[in-house]
Amino acid sequence: MGLSPWYSVLFLTSLVAANKPCFPGCSCEVESFGLFDSFSLTKVDCSGVGSHIVPVSLPLDTSYLDLSSNKLENVNESVLSGPGYTTLVNLNLSYNQIVKMSSTTFSKLRYLESLDLSHNRLEALPDHSFFYSPLVELNLSFNKLVEIKIGAFTSQTNGKAINIDLSNNLIRVVSRGSSNPLPNIRSLNLSGNGLRSVQGLQGLSLQSLNLDNNPISKIEENDLLGLKSLTHLSLRNMADLREIAPRSFRELPSLQVLDLSNNPNLVSLAEEVFFGLRSLQEVNLLNSGVGSLPKDTLHHLPAMKSITWGNHIHCIKTMKEDQFHLQNGLVRREVLVCRNNLGAVSAQDVL
Ligand SMILES: *[C@@H]1O[C@H](CO)[C@@H](O)[C@H](O)[C@H]1NC(C)=O
Ligand SMILES: *[C@@H]1O[C@H](CO)[C@@H](O)[C@H](O)[C@H]1NC(C)=O
Ligand SMILES: *[C@@H]1O[C@H](CO)[C@@H](O)[C@H](O)[C@H]1NC(C)=O
Ligand SMILES: *[C@@H]1O[C@H](CO)[C@@H](O)[C@H](O)[C@H]1NC(C)=O
Repeated sequence: MGLSPWYSVLFLTSLVAANKPCFPGCSCEVESFGLFDSFSLTKVDCSGVGSHIVPVSLPLDTSYLDLSSNKLENVNESVLSGPGYTTLVNLNLSYNQIVKMSSTTFSKLRYLESLDLSHNRLEALPDHSFFYSPLVELNLSFNKLVEIKIGAFTSQTNGKAINIDLSNNLIRVVSRGSSNPLPNIRSLNLSGNGLRSVQGLQGLSLQSLNLDNNPISKIEENDLLGLKSLTHLSLRNMADLREIAPRSFRELPSLQVLDLSNNPNLVSLAEEVFFGLRSLQEVNLLNSGVGSLPKDTLHHLPAMKSITWGNHIHCIKTMKEDQFHLQNGLVRREVLVCRNNLGAVSAQDVL
């Protein structure tokens, strides 16, 4: 049997990896892909080498740098600049001991799309910290952050400027229009910090937001405004979470998956808690304290496919056809079919 044309195209575009000379302690790999290896990118792995590794010099076309697990305490602009750094697309600084950064630490990384700062000791994010890069994915999980301010994601020109108009003896405070903070950001992971509330994220174009493992006790009515693109929201493992205000999710029209599992002190849900979630397909309340769902839950969730709650009660919305002796013969209705962990089944009409 000969190779089909389809197969040979795949073969030509497959990935080829080769090692190349590298800074002592690191490994550098060049991956070529595309027709006739027309594209290549260099990955530099300097993980687990030790804090003496910085500043590390990089091959010119480096797009991926892994500096994880190096006990780094101080990472600043002079460590993250020079040839090779300007082309970085991915930077991994996870599992270090970084306590502090400045607003210019990442300012030379003009093409950076993915930044992993998870498992460090960051206590605060200075204003404009992330503005210089076209970040798509930012992992800040397992740090010591106690609050998030939108200023970390905005440019320097945001905010107030003092305008002195001498001709009229006037001093005016002018607010310059706020530009869109991080227009490309899709994923933000803030799990495992010391956040007590969910503020400061308004206006980010996130699709995925993870706030698991934070000491948040209440989701307030206006905490989640302005996150119109959000499709996945994770609010798991929060021992302190006791309350979600009604209509808190009202401005999340794109949300598809809501994970509220492992919140043992969340024992009841307000009537209108799911109001406005018109795209929501999946709710997970597994191992939460919630024993029953509010009366109108399903009216607020036209796209809902599956709900899990309590001790493994799992419900799926299905269409049921009933034999009916009126003109049409068949009547279709939506029912919620639930099973518990013993396999018992119950069905209940949705409308
Ligand atoms: C930047 O960090 C490096 C490595 O930790 C350190 O040696 C250097 O003094 C720092 N530079 C500034 C300006 O803080
Ligand atoms: C960064 O490195 C850690 C440790 O090796 C790894 O678990 C993590 O997935 C990496 N992050 C990214 C974005 O690849
Ligand atoms: C940080 O999050 C990214 C996805 O946003 C993920 O690929 C990476 O593995 C995470 N890092 C760790 C250490 O889990
Ligand atoms: C968030 O980070 C945690 C731990 O660092 C990781 O386990 C998880 O997969 C990440 N989640 C997302 C959505 O990136």
